[in-house]
Amino acid sequence: MSKRILMVCLGNICRSPLAHGIMAETLPHYFVDSAGTGSYHIGSPPDSRSIRVAHDNGIDIRYQSARQFQYNDFTEFDHIFVMDRQNYRDVIAKANRQDDIDKVELLCEAAGMGMRPVPDPYYGDDEGFQNVFDLVKTACHRIAEQWKQNHE
Ligand code: 4NP
Repeated sequence: MSKRILMVCLGNICRSPLAHGIMAETLPHYFVDSAGTGSYHIGSPPDSRSIRVAHDNGIDIRYQSARQFQYNDFTEFDHIFVMDRQNYRDVIAKANRQDDIDKVELLCEAAGMGMRPVPDPYYGDDEGFQNVFDLVKTACHRIAEQWKQNHE
């Protein structure tokens, strides 16, 4: 089955653009997008540090443009993966029904990696971005593997 996957963080410029680029490469036949719960960066390209770490790992995310999560995303997507618990609360706050809520999962938890967040690297250094890249890549590969084993 083909799936529509949405990656969500706060600004849609650091973490979710990486998750978007990595999942799109991992599952090229699925539709993948990303959004932010906040509105500060609407229309901006990903943070230059995310662009660089993606590029250094063979992924181009320069085409992406930040947008804000909206209610319609609950109908447009089958899976909504959030990076941290605040993202979870902010997305759930927009839900209207249980079906909406059931689509929302913490990325690492969905990957069987525990309840840990993908830490916000915005105020940190380059190492934080590499850490986000590695964590998100592991999570995306594990989710893809789970789906493959379940023939989803
Ligand atoms: P993101 O990182 O949620 O991974 O895109 C952030 C980007 C911007 C801000 C916070 C986090 N900000 O406060 O502007």
